[in-house]
Amino acid sequence: MSDIITNSQEETINLAKEYITTLKGNVLGLIGDLGTGKTVFTQGLAKELGVKEIVNSPTFVLMKVYDTNHKVIKKLVHVDAYRLTNAQELIDIGLTEYLNKKDTLVVIEWADKVKDFLPKETIMINFKEGNNINQRIINI
Ligand SMILES: Nc1ncnc2c1ncn2[C@@H]1O[C@H](COP(=O)(O)OP(=O)(O)OP(=O)(O)O)[C@@H](O)[C@H]1O
Ligand SMILES: [Mg+2]
Repeated sequence: MSDIITNSQEETINLAKEYITTLKGNVLGLIGDLGTGKTVFTQGLAKELGVKEIVNSPTFVLMKVYDTNHKVIKKLVHVDAYRLTNAQELIDIGLTEYLNKKDTLVVIEWADKVKDFLPKETIMINFKEGNNINQRIINI
């Protein structure tokens, strides 16, 4: 784990794109305060995977499933646990079936809220504000 500083939204997107090539698991937990770049990072992942749709924060629907155009990772599942009050809701919406699928990348914003429910192999990435408005510190 090391801190990477990005100085723009584009740099965070590029970081996510490069990250796909080094990925060692299929469940990613994104942790950090509001506006620290979790959704932007997910958009970078989606772009690199060849997702055609626009990836927005799924705050009001909890989970969105996207088809990709990638040879190994066939689906991207994007979860936002911010408004979640009970991890049982994730089971109810069918997340469990995706967690064990090697060809599905599951990305969970606010993963710290549901970490007891996630596989122990879940890769955690931490997002923090930097020293100016366009800077973020991403521990990856
Ligand atoms: N270096 C940077 N990396 C990522 N985003 C940045 C950066 N600098 C500025 N931004 C801006 O910060 C905002 C990040 O928003 P984003 O929706 O990704 O945050 P989030 O962590 O998903 O928040 P939430 O917890 O509300 O879902 C965007 O408006 C983006 O343009
Ligand atoms: Mg978000």
